[in-house]
Amino acid sequence: MDRRLRVLWQIVWLVFIVSCKSVKKPYNYKRFPDSYAEVKQEYDNYYHLTGCQSGATIASIGAGNGITEIQISCFNEGIRWYLQEIDSTRLYQFEEVLKYHESVVGSPINANFNLVLGTEDTTHLPNGVFDRVLMLNVFHEIESRRGIMTEIHQLLNENGVLVIMERMGNIEGEIHGDCKYPKLVEDSFLQEMREYGYALDKQQLGEEMSNLMFYSFVSEK
Ligand SMILES: C[S@@+](CC[C@H](N)C(=O)[O-])C[C@H]1O[C@@H](n2cnc3c(N)ncnc32)[C@H](O)[C@@H]1O
Repeated sequence: MDRRLRVLWQIVWLVFIVSCKSVKKPYNYKRFPDSYAEVKQEYDNYYHLTGCQSGATIASIGAGNGITEIQISCFNEGIRWYLQEIDSTRLYQFEEVLKYHESVVGSPINANFNLVLGTEDTTHLPNGVFDRVLMLNVFHEIESRRGIMTEIHQLLNENGVLVIMERMGNIEGEIHGDCKYPKLVEDSFLQEMREYGYALDKQQLGEEMSNLMFYSFVSEK
């Protein structure tokens, strides 16, 4: 066989084998990982900064389709999650996203997931049970925040922590490229949190280029 034909034949075989092994993505979403290594890299780079621990009870407000919480559960067993959203369409994509990740990881994900539909003003989450409440890339999208931010004090248990992840702006007036909401600026954000009765416990940089920050707060005593 001519050498070029043989190389072409090998490429066709390779493409065929890879396509047989790959798992079909539930829908077109750029954050779906192709491999376990990618899930681990995202966790090691960013999501370990949420401080989620095995066995904890955690609410995620504005969880979207739950992709981040599913990925965190790959490295922390037995988390009892309450994935909360106001957009039922995104929330009900959760089952497909879970199935997809289980096929990428190659085993069932050990966690308990409860889906909760809230409204703009109230979370519909149970009081006093959460070790951690997450707001991942959500705070800037909530236009009237006082109601929900006040409610979160009641949701946390005695040692509970609120974690807010945001891509911060450097000056007032910067806009998020995707959602077009204004970016938060640290000084005014921290001032706003103090007004809601939260004390800053920790602040960590997740990524320099996009100024991705993880802030942990506790209720002021
Ligand atoms: C940018 S998405 C982030 C989704 C997810 N946390 C993530 O990181 O993939 C922001 C989400 O916040 C939700 N959201 C906006 N206002 C909300 C509110 N008042 N309560 C709960 N969720 C809200 C939106 O429906 C949207 O899914």
